[in-house]
Amino acid sequence: MRVIIAKNYDEICSKAADVIEAVVRAEPGCTLGLATGSSPVGMYKELSRRCHEEGLDFSAVHSVNLDEYVGLEPTHDQSYRYFMNDNLFDHINIDKANTYVAKGTGDAEANLKEFNEMLDRTDIAVQVLGVGPDGHLGFNEPGDTLCDGAHLETLDESTIDANARFFASRDDVPRYAVTMGMGNIMRARKLLLIISGSKKDAASALLKSDRIDPHCPVTFLRLHRDAVVFLEQSLADEIGYKG
Ligand code: GLP
Repeated sequence: MRVIIAKNYDEICSKAADVIEAVVRAEPGCTLGLATGSSPVGMYKELSRRCHEEGLDFSAVHSVNLDEYVGLEPTHDQSYRYFMNDNLFDHINIDKANTYVAKGTGDAEANLKEFNEMLDRTDIAVQVLGVGPDGHLGFNEPGDTLCDGAHLETLDESTIDANARFFASRDDVPRYAVTMGMGNIMRARKLLLIISGSKKDAASALLKSDRIDPHCPVTFLRLHRDAVVFLEQSLADEIGYKG
């Protein structure tokens, strides 16, 4: 696992965009695994800029997203499909037909089947990740066991609390989500984790301990051959991580 301590969030975004750019330039028809949440927003902005100003070409790129809330239509402004269009796809020359965000409404079983089949035939070149305050990846919530494939998750109370800021009220936060499983994430050829915000516990568990703990899913990154983790100097200082 490679850990990069950046002086601030802007530097994280620029260096993380370098990683994605290198993958896209080397393999123009690759599949990117993408994430929502506030952590990757700056990187998406930077990739959009590079697409417009520097000719970074997404025309042959495919993508698949980590997760989606259950119960939100793709047109709902807090659905992850809406988020991806709004923060990235509408600003780059990707063909939206080549972008996949799992469906959160309709026949739940059929949606999961489609998501799993899609993942089974997809070779993700790089998977972008953020981390929840409780250490969740995608919506793989902490527990005694974790799932390999895409599945339905009941969101932890702490996740509902953390995500309530995006909704009019806490009651509006969906209670369920579909998510890639830990196996799907770990099978990506490369992992790119951006830790931003107050993620002290998750960051400490990942960076300052040797334990792989299903009660803190982000610790599984230690098992990956090609994982790169970005964090800000201020967070590294807070948890006493020197690199
Ligand atoms: C949500 C998403 C996760 C994301 C997490 C952290 O729960 N399902 O994929 O990593 O939020 O979000 P943020 O980057 O806003 O802290």
